[in-house]
Amino acid sequence: MINLAILGATGLVGQKMRRILAERNFKFDNIFFFASKNSAGQDLYFKGEKYAILELNEENLLNNNINYALSALDSPLAKIYVKLAAENGITVVDNSSAFRMDPEVPLVVPEINPEEALKANGIISNPNCSTIQSVVALNPIYKNFGIKRIIYTTYQAVAGSGINGIDDLKLGDWGGKNNFYPYQISHNAIPHIDDFVEDGYSKEELKMVNESRKILSDDSLKITATAVRIPVFESHMVNIVVETEKPFEIEQIFELDNLS
Ligand SMILES: NC(=O)c1ccc[n+]([C@@H]2O[C@H](COP(=O)([O-])OP(=O)(O)OC[C@H]3O[C@@H](n4cnc5c(N)ncnc54)[C@H](OP(=O)(O)O)[C@@H]3O)[C@@H](O)[C@H]2O)c1
Repeated sequence: MINLAILGATGLVGQKMRRILAERNFKFDNIFFFASKNSAGQDLYFKGEKYAILELNEENLLNNNINYALSALDSPLAKIYVKLAAENGITVVDNSSAFRMDPEVPLVVPEINPEEALKANGIISNPNCSTIQSVVALNPIYKNFGIKRIIYTTYQAVAGSGINGIDDLKLGDWGGKNNFYPYQISHNAIPHIDDFVEDGYSKEELKMVNESRKILSDDSLKITATAVRIPVFESHMVNIVVETEKPFEIEQIFELDNLS
């Protein structure tokens, strides 16, 4: 029996989850869509059927026999509701940063470490969007040639900030003032994603450093990252400079596939 919940079903990630579940014809017995009380009671359509959006609260989450959930909540909400769900027997795949570096929570990339998901004690964490695309490319290089050092530079679309980011770019493009970013994003590039920490890195940059080490299971990797928000709606770009342990010919890199 699969009774599946989507937490944050109306947001950018939640919408994408719904689209992918429909495209892949994912089989379930019942499905529930959760969002804030602002959306609760509104209808959404999934595979031609109409569903009422449920307010995310303890009662709705725990009284519907839900046993699996995909969470697209922000980190503070995930710390409450993903934790609550897991403590009550619901297996949750979480997209936020809330549990990624928790040593008890597996950080899973299906192309790299799917077996880690089986060790989960209720929560399976999903990496940051820039980390995940990078480690898929780096993992075969790591396995075949070893890696000493990684320098990441990412240029990230406003979709990475969710609906607020999209709205700020649209507003700026029409001459409006920024509501969400610290500066206008339209016609601009802002090297500031998530909060800054004391040493001058942003948390987004540190996510790339720490999550890459955890996924590749190597805390000795030397990694630095620069993350810049740019005024495009969708698609992040990452430029990666990598120094390997062993020498290679570039053709050997192109011949590697994800699973080699
Ligand atoms: N966007 C990306 O590319 C991306 C990539 C990877 C991971 N993530 C992570 O995924 C998560 C979601 O990101 P997003 O871009 O989808 O954000 P978003 O577009 O802002 O969507 C946020 C979702 O959370 C719901 N929500 C807000 N406040 C709530 C509350 N008090 N109670 C219950 N639900 C509430 C919203 O419902 P309403 O519509 O009712 O407000 C909406 O469904 C974040 O942790 C983000 O860091 C995002």
